[in-house]
Amino acid sequence: MLIKMNDYRELILSELANEIGAEFVTKRRDEILNIPEMRKLLKEIEERGSSYNYKRLKEFKMLVKKVKMMKYYETRKFRTDEGLEVSILERGQYLEQLIERLTDTFKMIGGKVVLDIGSGTFPLYFSKELPAGTVYIAIDSRKEVIEELNKASTSHLKLIVIHSDACEIDYKSLLSQFNIKRADITLMLRVLSVIARTKKIDPVEFIESIPTRTLVVSEPLRSLVRKESVITRETKFLNSLARKLENRGIFAYHEIWTIGEEIFLFLF
Ligand SMILES: C[S@@+](CC[C@H](N)C(=O)[O-])C[C@H]1O[C@@H](n2cnc3c(N)ncnc32)[C@H](O)[C@@H]1O
Repeated sequence: MLIKMNDYRELILSELANEIGAEFVTKRRDEILNIPEMRKLLKEIEERGSSYNYKRLKEFKMLVKKVKMMKYYETRKFRTDEGLEVSILERGQYLEQLIERLTDTFKMIGGKVVLDIGSGTFPLYFSKELPAGTVYIAIDSRKEVIEELNKASTSHLKLIVIHSDACEIDYKSLLSQFNIKRADITLMLRVLSVIARTKKIDPVEFIESIPTRTLVVSEPLRSLVRKESVITRETKFLNSLARKLENRGIFAYHEIWTIGEEIFLFLF
């Protein structure tokens, strides 16, 4: 029976490769074999016996859907064909208000250092309003973003651009390279859920590893896949994140702010 189930594993994987793409399925093979949808399907096949056409099972359809979603998240576009960053474009008229609120917060706390994780091209907009001499550290894993930031002329402040996976950085040593003990404000705008999902990190532990006085996390209020409103889910996620960080003594209090189709968590 054990050998049979192994055969099924291979059969299902090759079916997924046909439907979704061999390269993706081969690359994420171990992960796919471990997702609950795959385990449920194998259990169902085992219970029904090998003569049943597994492709007719709802568990198979669920598995295909799940793997398609995994591929979508991996290949999803952050930029339109015209070269505009989606997050900036979607903020539209609200971008100005957002920059104003962040600038006010930064000035209120007498900030000198901004750490922007998964920055995209946001530094190009935010940096314009910041006081002269501000140190702005921007981190992104996309080459095109890094190239664009490196081209930017931001002579009134020090823009440090880092091309890296945000999860592979030791934030304390990164900051100490620039003689900085901790950032004054850390931004994780529209990126925390992406990283949590794709890199399987625990958001609380990740945030705990960043030496910072304040933190701003944001999430879009519309699902990127189905476009339905996810306001309840995201509000719950951010409130629970805030509670956990406050309980651990990392931050003292928080504020939730919603503008346009984006929800923000400010942690002080
Ligand atoms: C939705 S965009 C948001 C950009 C910007 N923070 C904003 O709100 O305008 C997400 C950004 O995170 C970057 N990103 C995704 N995963 C990352 C990772 N593991 N490490 C570093 N950057 C990452 C992407 O390249 C992209 O620029």
